[in-house]
Amino acid sequence: MITVRQIVGAFCFNGRFAVSFSEVGYLARRTSWPKLAPDFRGQYWLVTGGSGGLGRQMVWTALQAGATVTAVARSPEKLAALGAEASAMGLVGLEVECCDFTSSRDSAAR
Ligand SMILES: NC(=O)c1ccc[n+]([C@@H]2O[C@H](COP(=O)([O-])OP(=O)(O)OC[C@H]3O[C@@H](n4cnc5c(N)ncnc54)[C@H](OP(=O)(O)O)[C@@H]3O)[C@@H](O)[C@H]2O)c1
Repeated sequence: MITVRQIVGAFCFNGRFAVSFSEVGYLARRTSWPKLAPDFRGQYWLVTGGSGGLGRQMVWTALQAGATVTAVARSPEKLAALGAEASAMGLVGLEVECCDFTSSRDSAAR
């Protein structure tokens, strides 16, 4: 049986993190962050896991700031979609490469 004390405890425990580690914290804190205007022209980026998640965001940031980027992942379909999206956005300088990094043979072949 859950007690009132446990409920209050859980609320207090999770409440400490809700602001900092949720979208609320991100939205609240971003207002005080300085605006960044990175210039990556002349740089070459190799982004592993570049077709999804964090890597995909890195690809966009680097391309938009002028870098030449090679995005690497396993799925040729996802990489093709990434390339098509970059073209549609008018972003140049993206190359894609299929590789499974869990395979030493596949990695060495690149
Ligand atoms: N998201 C977070 O909050 C967070 C926090 C801390 C650390 N991390 C770490 O950061 C990394 C990326 O996280 P994420 O959330 O962005 O993951 P994700 O959305 O799943 O993206 C993973 C990317 O890596 C590629 N990939 C997966 N396995 C691969 C393999 N064997 N060889 C080559 N490419 C592979 C995927 O494409 P394919 O499936 O086509 O290969 C995809 O492009 C992970 O190692 C994760 O543990 C994430």
